[in-house]
Amino acid sequence: MDKRITISDVREMKAQGEKIAMLTAYDYATAKLVDEAGLPIILVGDSLGMVMLGYPDTLHVSLDDMLRHTAAVARGVKHALLVGDMPFMTYQLNAEEAMRNAARFLTEANAQAVKLEGGSPQIVETVARMTAAGIPVMGHLGLTPQSVNQLGGYKVQGRSHNAAQRMLDEALALEQAGAFALVLETVPSPLAALISRKLTIPTIGIGAGVGCDGQVQVIHDVIGLTVDYVPRHARQYAQVGSLIAAAARDYLADVRSGAFPTEAQSFKMDDSVLEGLE
Ligand code: KIV
Repeated sequence: MDKRITISDVREMKAQGEKIAMLTAYDYATAKLVDEAGLPIILVGDSLGMVMLGYPDTLHVSLDDMLRHTAAVARGVKHALLVGDMPFMTYQLNAEEAMRNAARFLTEANAQAVKLEGGSPQIVETVARMTAAGIPVMGHLGLTPQSVNQLGGYKVQGRSHNAAQRMLDEALALEQAGAFALVLETVPSPLAALISRKLTIPTIGIGAGVGCDGQVQVIHDVIGLTVDYVPRHARQYAQVGSLIAAAARDYLADVRSGAFPTEAQSFKMDDSVLEGLE
């Protein structure tokens, strides 16, 4: 697993019918474990705001937050393609500012690509300019959490005929603009499957069914470390939260009882050294 995964490898995985698994990571240690497990894509999602920083939503995440955590993850990743999520209002104002901010993910934080939300003509134009300038972009349609206030909540997207047609049109426009992959979040499975068949680039679903070319999950949901709310689309593969709580309780009990530390965790010295000390 020496070779670094590239956006061409990701496209080739779709061509070969190989399912793509992506997980988020936000820190060096977790990134190293996820990378060594063989995940081809690691996303430093702006879900960071909720699961790591305790914000109520992704709108409060800053560019500095994302760059610091992306750089930490990059130090732990040797194999996976590393994608950094552009936070709210760092790419919506104009294409120049978007490109300047996106470039920082590549040059300062050592990501290989960025992800941004939406498929409006302005976003599509920004994606075209970024990819033309050599910045690989992953798109994100469906439930785009940075627009939660505009969407009126965290709701399934694309349920009406018009909304489904709009999502398909935006997906095709993002592909045309040069996006190398597309996240589809909380989209009915039949629509996500249709979009996946129509696109040549891979779709990576979250709450979008098995018809997508790949899946993405927030690592906290997968390992059972989510403290507030576990979304319906997540499956827990471990109960790390319970392990942490049990370890903390055992440690507390051992410190209180004097069972920790023992000689094994302590350091000796010659008693004579202390003679005469007051
Ligand atoms: O922020 C994030 O973690 C994401 C994924 C859920 C796709 O955008």
